[in-house]
Parts: sequence; structure tokens; C-alpha cells
Amino acid sequence: MGLCMSLAGRDIISIRDFTRFDIDHMLSAADQMELQAKSGSDILRGKIMATLFFEPSTRTKLSFESAMYRLGGSCIGFAEPSTASVQKGENLSDTVRVVENYADVLVIRHPLEGASRLAGEVTDVPVVNAGSGSEEHPTQAILDIYTMKREFGHIDGLKVAMVGDLRYGRTVHSLAYALSLYKDVKLCLISPDLLRMRHEVLEDIGRNIDFEEGKDLGKILGEVDVIYMTRIQKERFADLAEYEAIKGSYRLTQADLKHCKKGAIVMHPLPRVDEIDADVDGTIYARYFRQVWYGVLSRMGLLALILGAIT
Ligand code: NCD
Repeated sequence: MGLCMSLAGRDIISIRDFTRFDIDHMLSAADQMELQAKSGSDILRGKIMATLFFEPSTRTKLSFESAMYRLGGSCIGFAEPSTASVQKGENLSDTVRVVENYADVLVIRHPLEGASRLAGEVTDVPVVNAGSGSEEHPTQAILDIYTMKREFGHIDGLKVAMVGDLRYGRTVHSLAYALSLYKDVKLCLISPDLLRMRHEVLEDIGRNIDFEEGKDLGKILGEVDVIYMTRIQKERFADLAEYEAIKGSYRLTQADLKHCKKGAIVMHPLPRVDEIDADVDGTIYARYFRQVWYGVLSRMGLLALILGAIT
């Protein structure tokens, strides 16, 4: 993959398809969007984005739609597959081959791993993976990295704790891959035994960056720059009794934050259940709502790049 490969027309399926150069390019695109987000823009006028959501979502879908509208484009799609032809038995590739005639970019969320990769293979229209089972959520990783860049001014050298469901959480997989492209990043992977980060992800990131695994958040709280909390992914458990046994394993409170490093920030892809106490919201550490705004800027940048409105 050449260093200067344009992102126009590219699919965004997995963070592993991109170089550090590509990711940095996406972060600068997000930077360029701040002004346009506030004043409005028409660089994507005439372009249509289709959202095909086979799994529930509030923020990801709204965030993409907001990004598209803010750039002057339009949106179509479904969030409830029971209202679409898939309910009649249509397979994913047929749905994609139909919708590619309606839209210039397809944003897909699907419970099956590999679904957006398959979609990307059957169409020439750019496909964006908005969550593929518990595998990946690459645009969330871009906005997470963008949040860190905005808050610290750099990614290199950061020490990041990922806490909670590292097995089924797709955001942490994509984020770990993205962080592994940077220098001297250290990951502290904190989870119950049952929800440890998948072996294949560890093997991949371990080639480039240091990581340590553990169960006790308190032990590393004083060392990390970022505390990335995640929800235990109830819907991915085959056995609900297993979920019941580990739900509520982590709960970050204002009192815990007394022990954290100066300048540390708390992030969360949202939605939260009970892993961050509401009393953290008003502290100087909380960034999870600002992260949502950075998400709009990141997705504006991505859409503008893949639709060729900026280079
Ligand atoms: C995440 C997801 O869908 O993977 N949410 C999101 O996109 N912001 C995280 C989650 O559902 O826990």
C-alpha cells in the first residue's frame, strides 16, 4: 500500500486496511470540518448516503446522518430490518446490489462478522462498516483516536487503559489496532477473565506495541492517560447466566478518580449502562460527551474523503 494512496472511493471495513499515514490523514480531515460543522457546507450536495442497519443503533446512525447533512448531502436507509426486504428473505448481497443504485456511499451495521467485507466485495460504491458483530467498528476507532489527538495533541507515547468487555466489544478491537500504528503506545487491558481481549488481536498488536492484561482497574489508574470504559455486551452472550455473573464488574466513580494521573481523561463509546457513575460526568476527567462531537467531525471528514470532496 503506497503512502499517498487516495482515500476517494475506498471502503472502510477494518482499521487493519489502513496505514498510520491514512489514519493521520483522516484526523486532519476531521480537523478541517470544525468550521463547516458550525456554519454548514455544501461540499456533498447531490450525494446520497444509505444507512443499512441490521442491528440497533442510536448514535452511530444519527452521527453519520448529522455528518452527511452538515456537508449538504442527503440520507436514506433503514434502522429496523423488519421493515426492509431482508425480512422477506433477501440476502445481504442482493440488498447491496439494489441499494447501490440509490446511493453514493453505503453505511452498514450487521450482527455477523465479515458482513461489510462481503458487501464491499459486491459493489463498487464505497462501503463503511458501522459495526460488524463483535469484530470491528473502524469509524468509532477513528473518532476515539481523534478525541485523544484533540485532547493531548498527540497519540504517540500515550498509555491507554481499555476496561470492561474486551472480548465482545468491537470498538476496543478497532481501537487497539489503530493505536498499534503509533509509537510507544502502551495498553492496559482490564477485564474479567471471561472477557479478555481476543487472542488474534493481542497477537497482532503485540508486534508493534506493549500491552499488559489485568483485572484490577485500581492498580493502573494512577499510570494511564486515557481510561476507555466499555459496556458489557449483553446481546453477544450465548448464556445469559454468564452475563449475569459478570455484569457490573467495573464501575468508575468520582472517588476513584482521585487516584488518577493529572490530565487523564475518561472516554466511552456509549451507550453506558452502569460502568461510569453519573457523578463522573461533571468532573474535569469526563470526555465521553465531547467524544460524541468529535465523532461528527470525524465522520464528516471520512465522508468528504471517500466521496472525493476533499483530498
Ligand atoms: C458501540 C457499538 O455499537 O459497538 N456503540 C457505538 O457505536 N457508539 C458500543 C456499544 O454498543 O457498547
